[in-house]
Amino acid sequence: MAKNDKKTADKAADKPADKAAAKPASKSAAKPATKGTAIDIGIAASDRAAIAKGLNGLLADTFTLYLTTHNFHWNVTGPMFNTLHTMFMAQYTELWNAVDPIAERVRALGYPAIGSFADFAKASTLPDAPAQPPKAKEMIRILVTGHEAVARTARALFPLVDEASDEPSADLLTQRLDVHEKAAWMLRSLLEE
Ligand SMILES: [Fe+2]
Repeated sequence: MAKNDKKTADKAADKPADKAAAKPASKSAAKPATKGTAIDIGIAASDRAAIAKGLNGLLADTFTLYLTTHNFHWNVTGPMFNTLHTMFMAQYTELWNAVDPIAERVRALGYPAIGSFADFAKASTLPDAPAQPPKAKEMIRILVTGHEAVARTARALFPLVDEASDEPSADLLTQRLDVHEKAAWMLRSLLEE
């Protein structure tokens, strides 16, 4: 970078581009993670705060379902062992891979991604895994209701992201809905006689 260009860039960085955008959101549930640099991506600060809060809820649901599915992979017993042990592994791997893009979308919106058992327990709409491993069929039932619950959480966020023209979040939610509805169908099918 030429000396003069650098001077101009430094000067621009000192000055917030939009004073109004630099103001904290009044509806904000958590403090924005970015200090000093205004975020101006075309989504109102109050919308970014609300979407980030919703996505942190989806993150908590997804992590809880991931952990329950991995738990069931370890603890499943009975004649369906091989099928379920393998199926649960594919599902927990997908869920594990999904938490990262959800968390990183929260960060791109300017907010901290939650990441502790205490915060996940507070924000999740899913119950924790049972203390005692249930029988295989009960595991399947728990996972069906889990996938359905995460789908409801993702779907409930749509009006907000639509209204804010937050296409990346809408795209992410669409992908997650597809995965959870498909997983719920496959698990549900195992319960049919
Ligand atoms: Fe394993």
